[in-house]
Formats: sequence, structure tokens, C-alpha cells
Amino acid sequence: MNLFDVYPLYDVTPVKAKDMYVYDQNEVEYLDLYGGHGVISIGHSHPHYTNAITEQVNAIGFYSNAIQNPLQQKLATLLGKVSGRETDQLFLCNSGAEAVENALKLASFVTGKSRVIAFKNAFHGRTSAAVSVTDNPIIQAPINQCNPTTFLPLNQLDLLENELRKGTVSAVIIEGIQGVGGLDEGTSAFFKGVERLCKEHEALFIVDEIQSGYGRSGHFFSFQAHDIEPDIITVAKGMGNGFPIAGILIGSHIEAKHGMLGTTFGGNHLACAAAIAVLEVIQQEALLENTQAMSTYFIQQAQQLKGVKQIKGRGLMLGLEFDVEVATLRKKLIYDKHIFTGGATNKNLLRILPPLTIKKNHIDQCIIALKDLV
Ligand SMILES: Cc1ncc(COP(=O)(O)O)c(C=O)c1O
Repeated sequence: MNLFDVYPLYDVTPVKAKDMYVYDQNEVEYLDLYGGHGVISIGHSHPHYTNAITEQVNAIGFYSNAIQNPLQQKLATLLGKVSGRETDQLFLCNSGAEAVENALKLASFVTGKSRVIAFKNAFHGRTSAAVSVTDNPIIQAPINQCNPTTFLPLNQLDLLENELRKGTVSAVIIEGIQGVGGLDEGTSAFFKGVERLCKEHEALFIVDEIQSGYGRSGHFFSFQAHDIEPDIITVAKGMGNGFPIAGILIGSHIEAKHGMLGTTFGGNHLACAAAIAVLEVIQQEALLENTQAMSTYFIQQAQQLKGVKQIKGRGLMLGLEFDVEVATLRKKLIYDKHIFTGGATNKNLLRILPPLTIKKNHIDQCIIALKDLV
């Protein structure tokens, strides 16, 4: 059987990884400034994480959600504490798209409405409801076009108010910082306005923190820079440092009913052990503080690069916007300099999403390589 060929691949075959580096079968070392799509939060193969997973799988790796699993409550309590969201409720699932799917479904259950407002350039995943709120018709099949969604530009509260006034909107969904779309972000006034308008018009306010959350922005959640309280927050990626786990944080005013949401794999023992270990490392190694410090250093260094028009994003979710397309530069970074970086819908943007354990010497390595190439 052949693989269904949906991914354009770089010719690199990683076989092991440690902290900031990935190694191929010939022991060539690659500096990972992409974290496998913003997934690696605490560094590759962190010993606390690998030990926790190993011990857990030797004890019990999985049982269904029909039994008591105290690891789920341990994870919820720790996540509440580390994120400052202690009164929220947690529903666990397996991937980002599934988290978005459940967030939208929950909002529709609660409000009894079905229309969703999303934003230009948004990316929220590829399953049915998630892809329908993703602003990219190329990845929407006809079957996905049955979920009514209106896309609005960021930062235009008057347009949002016009739509909400119609009384048909169940949810407004917005990325804390746009990832795939190219690191644009609503202003604090906009986020506050969305929160107020959602309350006024009985729609739920969903912030998608799948990429911008888990410390990546320098806050635990990127929206925490705006002093707002969303009704639902989606998380995935950095939550499991590569182990597939995702979730939605749900405000205490939303009442759960048995059968409302569910999953076979979500919140299994092994996934919870991975996610608990991630939060413990984030705390023990003060990774939010490291993210803030390394972000400042990266931006200072990158400002000296010629060809960089603008530096976008926050924390370790950064984008260097060049005056030309970056596809060739990315190839040279991988094959000549052995550095992984990311691209975006904006073809001039080089995305930097490293593990949050990055140090100055890794940033220096990147800047020296870029100075040589641009
Ligand atoms: C903001 C955001 N939401 C949702 C998703 C979908 O997550 P997954 O690929 O785990 O389904 C992504 C993935 O890149 C994302 O960046």
C-alpha cells in the first residue's frame, strides 16, 4: 500500500531529537526553529516527559472514558493553576481541529443558534465545522460548506456588531494571534469589544489558542495580554509536546450535560501523563519568562538583518517579513545551514516557532545563517 500523497515533503528524515535539535539517519544535526508546527513546547525528548510517559505506559496506557481516571482531574487542576483559569472546566480530546469542532458545537448547543463569525485569514483546522470557519476555500469540500460562517476583517467592531444584531450568531471564533494566516492580531480594544458584543447578543466568545497558547506568546494564553475572559478556549499543539492531546477550557457559567460531548481516545492515561509532565516543566523551568527574554533578544538581533521589512508576532511566535518570497531561503536554511523554519499564507513571511527552551546561542546560530543568506 502507498501513502496518500497529500504533503509536499522536504528531503530530511529525522530519527532522533533532543531539546532544540533534530538528527537525521546520518547524524546530521538540525536546529529546530519550527517545533514541528509549533508543537514542541518543552524541547524534544525532555527527560521528565519521556520518564512520565514511559512509567505511565508501563502501568496503564489507555482505558475508555467510562471509568474513573484521576489523571484527568490532576491535569485540569494543574492547567487551571498554571494558566490562571482555575474556575474553567476542561473537556479533553485529541487534536486541534477536534477541539475547535467541540467548541463550536458546544456554543451551538448553549445558544440554540448555528451561525459563526470568523476572521479573514483565519485557520482553525480541517474537520467539518473547523474548516468551515477557516478562511481558505481550497481546503473546503462541498460537504463542509453547510456550516454558515461569515468572515470579517480583524479590528472592525462596527461590522461585527451589524452581524451580531441579526440574532443568529452562536459564536465568534478568533485566534489569539493568527498562525498560518501570518501573525496578525486583533488590538486590545477589538478583543474587549468582541467580548462585550458577544455578551450583549448572546453569542459565545471562543479564542483559539491552539498555536498561540501554552506559553508561546510569553503569556500562558496570548489573549491574557488583552485583559478579557473568553467563554471557551481551545488548546492543542504545545499541550502534549508531540503527544496528541487537545482540549477546550469552558467557562463555569456553561453547564455540562451527560452525552453532550464525547470521545474514545480523548483524555486517556498516556495523554494525560504527557500533558501533566509538560505543565510541570513549564513551571519548573520558568519557560514563560524564558520565552519573553528570548523573544526580546531574537527581535533585537533580527532587526539588524537586511531585507527584513517587519517583525510580526509575539513571544516565540514570530514572523520575519522579507521584501521577497522566502521559499528559497527556507530551503537554503534547511539544506545548507541545517535550520528548520516555517512558512505562512503570506509567502514573504518566515515563521519562527521554536521550543520554549531556546537559548541565546541558538538564536545567534540562526542570525549568523540568515546574515550569510540574505
Ligand atoms: C490556530 C489553529 N487552530 C487549529 C489548528 C488545527 O490543529 P490540528 O492540526 O491539531 O487539527 C491549527 C493547526 O495548525 C491552528 O494553528
